[in-house]
Amino acid sequence: MRRIYLDHGATTPLDPRVLDEMLPYLREVFGNPSSAHAFGREAREGVEKARIRVARALNADPREIVFTSGGSEANYLAVRGAAYANRDRGNHIVASRIEHHSVLDTCLDLAEHGYEVSWVPVNEDGIVDPRKVAALLRPTTILVTVMLANNEVGTIQPVREIAALARERGVLCHTDAVQGFGKMAVDVQNLGVDMLSISAHKIYGPKGAGALYLRAGTRWQPLNHGGGQEARRRPGTENVPGIVGLGAAAALAVAELEHETAQVRVLRDRLVSEVLRRIPGARLSGHPVRRVPHNAHFCFEGVAGGALLAGLDAAGVAVSAASACAAGSGTPSHVLQAMGFADELAAGALRVTLGRGNTAADVDLFVETLERLVEKARQKAPSSGRN
Ligand SMILES: Cc1ncc(COP(=O)(O)O)c(C=O)c1O
Repeated sequence: MRRIYLDHGATTPLDPRVLDEMLPYLREVFGNPSSAHAFGREAREGVEKARIRVARALNADPREIVFTSGGSEANYLAVRGAAYANRDRGNHIVASRIEHHSVLDTCLDLAEHGYEVSWVPVNEDGIVDPRKVAALLRPTTILVTVMLANNEVGTIQPVREIAALARERGVLCHTDAVQGFGKMAVDVQNLGVDMLSISAHKIYGPKGAGALYLRAGTRWQPLNHGGGQEARRRPGTENVPGIVGLGAAAALAVAELEHETAQVRVLRDRLVSEVLRRIPGARLSGHPVRRVPHNAHFCFEGVAGGALLAGLDAAGVAVSAASACAAGSGTPSHVLQAMGFADELAAGALRVTLGRGNTAADVDLFVETLERLVEKARQKAPSSGRN
């Protein structure tokens, strides 16, 4: 059976060019980057080259890059590190309702420990209005965190505008760029953010590697102690092959951004128009154009997304019923809830995220299979209705 992978929002395959760059660091270059001998220096060189590449990809200074175990840790370090370091200035955090759980749950935990969190709503297209952020700022606000691109519906948030108004008020701004980086230009100077998170495995790099951009001079404090690595910001012996892979993947993501986004956009647009044309009661969620080019997200009236996912999986097609992290949790997506979707409609959600390896034939096979499955599901439950 031909298998088709349409879940690049969950993770991406390792690019063979990235693997080639990592292999020496999994084989012969095994030194500890902190060791004061040639073995250590070789490993250190790999880490520092990756730091330069990541910094260049984000238009940052290499000293502003902190390597982490992935996007979740970068988010966690950003939010909690800023909250603790600015406690003397205030205790108020502003976060969007559609953040990834690594931001959301960190904020919820802080709210149980003396911080106050205001949640910025999104409109029915899943977009934050910067004026609503401005209205929530108080003299005690210390941090605003709004993601660059949403992991479920792919909407692109006005982070530049949000960062500008935070800066005007002397408030730090963090953005989770895990789903935006590699799909759109990400320039920390242009965005004007103080902190930004990325993850290697969403950009054809290895799992377990990511980075936090931490603007020089940002009032922030580390959460872990006991090692001098990452300029004392994130102790622990570095994941050298992972970091090298992140550097290689980031460089490729930027070099191939234009070509790749143009290619997936054509495929995604074909997929969206075919699904909407052929499947009655199908609805595209999120903003029609302000979304990352590889993302399509649908709801199907009267059909459970989980059943479609299982049917597609049996046919060899991998998609997601929500984001990878919410999938299987059985709870309705907080993103769709924030967008005002009724639970019944949200239950029919299907996220399709295209990638480098996909072709028009993949899209056509997906649409055919989906059409068949939706029809079958509706025949089984005719009373669930489409109108
Ligand atoms: C928006 C967003 N932020 C953070 C993460 C977490 O990244 P990682 O898997 O590297 O911890 C994800 C992963 O799904 C994500 O989609």
